[in-house]
Amino acid sequence: MVKRFPAAVFLALSFGAFLAATASHWDTVPARDHARTNPLAGKPETAVAGALLYREHCQQCHAADAQGDGQKKPSLRTASVRGATDGDLEWFLRQGDLKHGMPSWSNLPQAQRWQIIAYLRSLP
Ligand code: HEC
Repeated sequence: MVKRFPAAVFLALSFGAFLAATASHWDTVPARDHARTNPLAGKPETAVAGALLYREHCQQCHAADAQGDGQKKPSLRTASVRGATDGDLEWFLRQGDLKHGMPSWSNLPQAQRWQIIAYLRSLP
């Protein structure tokens, strides 16, 4: 038991590191946020306003066509983004991921975050 202890600790630490490396931000969204729907969805003017906001705030990193820079700044036309709920995206925009270079957009009015999300949903 005493002899095996270090091996068990090593395994536990490796497994923890593995989980941390494979977890996506969507796994950490609180259930309440995950379940939220876009209150502005379904109105065409919402995505139009979102496109302007995207150009102002997001395009510099995620590119005009939202395909990212092919390196650290990810495409937003991915299965990852499509698979996230509107609530997941709104939560992530508020949090950002500063450690990995994604700013927080919590200072935008909430309606603007929903407009941007409607725009992302309108992308092919
Ligand atoms: C300064 C550069 C920068 C700006 C500006 C920026 N982002 Fe990001 N964004 C990033 C980086 C870098 C990541 C990857 C972060 C990570 O790996 O966690 C990211 C990740 C994301 C993701 C998660 C993608 C995924 O599949 O996990 C979304 C969604 C997103 N950004 C949307 C936006 C929106 C919408 C805006 C404008 C309001 C924006 N970003 C502005 C750099 C930026």
